[in-house]
Amino acid sequence: MSNLLDGKTIVVMGVANKRSIAWGCAKSLMDNGAKVIITYQNERLRRQLDKLVPEGTEMIECDVAEDANVEKTFQDIQAKFGNIDGVIHAIAYADKETLEGGVIDVKKDGYNLAQDVSAYSLISVSRYASRVMNPQGSIATLTYMGSTRAIPSYNMMGVAKAALEANVRYLASDLGPKKIRVNAISAGAIKTLAVTGIKNHGDLLKESEARTVDGEAVDIHQVGDVATFLMSNLSSGVTGDLIYADKGVHLLA
Ligand SMILES: NC(=O)c1ccc[n+]([C@@H]2O[C@H](COP(=O)([O-])OP(=O)(O)OC[C@H]3O[C@@H](n4cnc5c(N)ncnc54)[C@H](O)[C@@H]3O)[C@@H](O)[C@H]2O)c1
Repeated sequence: MSNLLDGKTIVVMGVANKRSIAWGCAKSLMDNGAKVIITYQNERLRRQLDKLVPEGTEMIECDVAEDANVEKTFQDIQAKFGNIDGVIHAIAYADKETLEGGVIDVKKDGYNLAQDVSAYSLISVSRYASRVMNPQGSIATLTYMGSTRAIPSYNMMGVAKAALEANVRYLASDLGPKKIRVNAISAGAIKTLAVTGIKNHGDLLKESEARTVDGEAVDIHQVGDVATFLMSNLSSGVTGDLIYADKGVHLLA
C-alpha cells in the first residue's frame, strides 16, 4: 500500500477473471492509490467481473477487434472521467487450430487474427488512448519470452509477441514528443485462461516454475507491482523497453 499513484487514472484492459494478469495489475494499481477503470471484452466476462471487483469500480466493454470500439471507449472514458494517465494492455488471442500446430502450419487467417488482437491492438489502443492522456502518461503491455526464442508449444503467439515488442519501441518513439512512455512487461508463465489455450501448457508452466531462481512461479501480484512502477513517475526515464517479471527464468538456458 502506498500513495505512489495518487491522482492518476489508469485504464486496465484484459481482466477476464481473478487469475488474469490484468487483475493483478488492477489490484496493485488500486492498492497504490490509482483510480482504475477496467475494460472487458464482452458481456459474458462482465458477469465474472461483477463478483470480483470492489463496489464502485468503473467498467466499460471494449472488444479491440474493431478500431471504432477502441476509439469510442477512450472517448467515452474521457467524457465521463476526464483525461487519463495510463493504460495497461493485457490482451492476446489466437484460435485453437492456430495455437495447436507449429508455426509451419499456421494459415493466413489464423496468423492475421493472432497479430490483430495480440499485437496490432496495442497500436490502436495507444493511438486513441494517447489523445486523452495527460503528459507523463504511461502505456504498458504484457509479453512473453517466446518472442525471442522458439519455446515449445508457444508457436504463433511467439511471433505475435515479437511484433508486439517491436510496436512498443516504435510507439515509444512516436509518443515521446507527447511525453507519453510505452513499455512491455515480460511475465513468467502463470496459469491463466489464455495459457490454457496453449497445447501442453502444463509442461510449459512446470518447466517455467522449475527454472525460476527460487523454484516458485511468479504470480499476478508480482507482475502487477511492476505495472505500478511503470505507471508511476518513478519510471519517468524508462521507455521503449521491456522489464522481465519472471523470477529470472529468461536468464537460465
Ligand atoms: N499467463 C502467462 O503465462 C503470460 C505470460 C506472459 C505474458 N502473458 C500475456 O498477458 C496478457 C494477459 O493474459 P493472461 O495470461 O492474464 O490471460 P487472460 O485470459 O486472463 O487475459 C487475456 C485477456 O485478453 C482478452 N481479450 C482477448 N481478445 C480480446 C478482444 N478481441 N478484445 C478485448 N479483449 C480481448 C480476454 O478477454 C482476456 O481478458 C496476454 O497478453 C498474455 O499473452 C501471459
